[in-house]
Amino acid sequence: MNLKGRDFLTLLEFKRQELEEIINLAQKMKNGKEKNIGNKTMCMLFQKPSTRTRISFEAGMTQLGGHAIYLDFRTTQLGRGETIADTGRVLSRYSDIIMARLYKQSDIEELAKASDVPVINALTDLYHPCQTMADMMTVKEKRGQIRELKVVFVGDCGFNMCNSTIIGFSKLGADVTAVCPDKKEYKPSPDIIKAATEHASGKISIEHDPIAGVKDADVIYTDTWVSMGQENAEQRIKDLQPYQVNNNLIRHAKPDCIVMHCLPAHRGQEITNEVIDGPHSVVFDEAENRLHVQKAIIVSLLGV
Ligand code: CP
Ligand code: NVA
Repeated sequence: MNLKGRDFLTLLEFKRQELEEIINLAQKMKNGKEKNIGNKTMCMLFQKPSTRTRISFEAGMTQLGGHAIYLDFRTTQLGRGETIADTGRVLSRYSDIIMARLYKQSDIEELAKASDVPVINALTDLYHPCQTMADMMTVKEKRGQIRELKVVFVGDCGFNMCNSTIIGFSKLGADVTAVCPDKKEYKPSPDIIKAATEHASGKISIEHDPIAGVKDADVIYTDTWVSMGQENAEQRIKDLQPYQVNNNLIRHAKPDCIVMHCLPAHRGQEITNEVIDGPHSVVFDEAENRLHVQKAIIVSLLGV
């Protein structure tokens, strides 16, 4: 596998085998395999807040023998109107790899186009590919496989986390069901379903009844009902209430199902304390795996 120089923007652009090799490398590195990228620098550009992503990339670069620089829009010239493209050209002169968390997917595509070094998508409104890589690694770790599992995403299925879950898990052979209200804003867009289906080896479906949706699930996934940048919080919380992941819902899944959440969680909204702190939850292993899988992504894109 040679991924040197590639960008990591959507998951759609990588073959199943390439994603599996990154996950296998991440697992080996988690188990002690050492990699050293030697004095390489990553610029990390943030337009939205972050806890896990910032810290895991920064710690990952330190562990790999490199260095990470945190930049945000407010304290750089981006805040005064310098373009994303000019910023990308300049950052490429100083650093070996760039990661960015931006609102618009088109902006990260523009950043990648203007940059001479690999660009990693650290979340946009449309995708969160690094999170899904960590999620797939976690499922493989817990279950030994992804193929033929039933993965059910419950709640807001019209935003980044569900989009990447559909694309990643179906590509690696799981059947993915999106369970959400029958309203346009909560459903995966037809474009996402079409793009994912072209690359999928598992089935993709949409269901509106939460109990029917989670029936026999191996994995139940949820995310906040009000993502960064979304409006009408009160209405969204009301609409999504029947989709709360609680003990009553998860008893309809397989008895050994695992429950996942990208975090941050809004305890008592999309997930209850009893579930997130209960025996099915793997959310903190999932958060840890961000570190391992991102180190494997960095090593792969740098060609080390
Ligand atoms: N899951 C995730 O990306 O978390 P942060 O927003 O804290 O980075
Ligand atoms: N959907 C959430 C994910 C946070 C990691 C958001 O965009 O806010």
